[in-house]
Amino acid sequence: MASIRKASSISAGGNIVVLCYKAKPSFGISDEEFVYLKKQIEELKKKTIVFNRLSHQLLFVVADQKQDKYKRYETLRKGGNELAALLNGNKATSVLIVDETAEKENILSVSEGMALGSYQFIRHRKEKEKEKNSLHDILVYSSKVNEKDILELNAVIEATCAARDLVNEPVNVLNAEGLAESFQKMGKQVGFKVEVFNKQKIESLKMGGLLAVNKGSVDPPTFSVMEYKPANAKNKKPFVLVGKGLVYDTGGLSLKPTPNSMDSMKCDMAGGAVVGCTLFALAKAKIPVHVIGLVPSTDNRPGFNAFAPGDIITMHDGTTVEMLNSDAEGRMILADALSYAKKYEPRLVMEFSTLTGAAAAAIGANGVVMMGNADEKVKDKLMKSGSRVHERLVEFPFWEDYDELLKSDIADMKNIGGPYAGAITAGRFLVKFTNYPYIHFDIAGPAFINSKDGYRSKGGTGVGVRLLFDFFKGI
Ligand code: BES
Ligand code: MN
Ligand code: ZN
Repeated sequence: MASIRKASSISAGGNIVVLCYKAKPSFGISDEEFVYLKKQIEELKKKTIVFNRLSHQLLFVVADQKQDKYKRYETLRKGGNELAALLNGNKATSVLIVDETAEKENILSVSEGMALGSYQFIRHRKEKEKEKNSLHDILVYSSKVNEKDILELNAVIEATCAARDLVNEPVNVLNAEGLAESFQKMGKQVGFKVEVFNKQKIESLKMGGLLAVNKGSVDPPTFSVMEYKPANAKNKKPFVLVGKGLVYDTGGLSLKPTPNSMDSMKCDMAGGAVVGCTLFALAKAKIPVHVIGLVPSTDNRPGFNAFAPGDIITMHDGTTVEMLNSDAEGRMILADALSYAKKYEPRLVMEFSTLTGAAAAAIGANGVVMMGNADEKVKDKLMKSGSRVHERLVEFPFWEDYDELLKSDIADMKNIGGPYAGAITAGRFLVKFTNYPYIHFDIAGPAFINSKDGYRSKGGTGVGVRLLFDFFKGI
């Protein structure tokens, strides 16, 4: 993985990126070359320009001062990704970025796009050593950037790539126990606590939702409880993160129709990956915030003893649920985690899940569906983080009126609403298991994409980690 470091000087002979405005950069080019550069920028609207110096490359990336700042950061991340592709294509191992702009966010964005864009998931390929991207060191030359900025940026990049890895790993490699073990390794590496409940413990806690979904599986469920509590934490009551750790979703007896609908369902633990990897980033960068992470995990399969549509399940909090569709399994395992979270008396619970096709249908892969009953101030902060890191949030209504659709004649609730407002009825189902400020993030759209989109890799994107890290940095 490429990592970022601060450079103390501009060494001659290596690959150099100059980050500049539209005016003539003080570095690297003649007046004649500037005429060419200007044309590329102004007439051809290019944001990255290359000069081949034979022994090395001289690259330019342009920050547009007229652009809204969040848009500019995103343009610069995309520019960084383009430059990284070029450098990797030339087997370059390092690059130095020279900052000629006024805000440090500019150079941080370029480096972030370079590092995230260099991500690959090739560990299962025979020729992986040959195919590996060469770019290793991204050196930033900027008086405004400090060591803390670099530490935080590397931490969130590493965590995002770790989340991508977890999502990309198929279920035959990573089952519920494997996911929990990955969290344990991460906890050991950077210093947060991880306790994994096994099936027996889950049974003793009467987590009926998680156990019901697990019934059709041969692999046991797990429930991971993680905690990062630094001595200097700014919050008294903890933030709790809950993530859907559904390692594979066949739909169960309400089997998903093939083709296409099941192919990417190894991604159904992306919410769980967000939770574990956010704790990793926070601990690695030593952000002063107390956060607990809960990840219920199992696969959802139509095995012999699989729960059948019509079954009535008693959940962890005693609520009974008439399960009319085994493909609405995410809410069953999450509900148990949400009622378990009550014991922490949380300041706020944020839950991430690839929960509904309806959320993906509504806004696609370009944003995250958000809804909840936390106060407007918190929501505004989250929205702002979303815009800053370009993991934008779209708030859906969370009106009680929708609860009507979840009524059952024979149990306290059904696990499905109806044909309309599927993303919202899923959220309304979940809120019944909470007694604290709660926000639900449905990442079914952006968690997994079928082709590379700038610095967002094909397959798992790691969406949610950068959003949460930015949010917690601001606490
Ligand atoms: N894991 C799926 C949702 C999903 C869809 C994630 C597409 C990623 C991409 C979830 O468990 C599911 O199957 N939801 C059902 C709910 C329905 C049966 C009420 C859906 O959205 O169809
Ligand atoms: Mn499902
Ligand atoms: Zn699912």
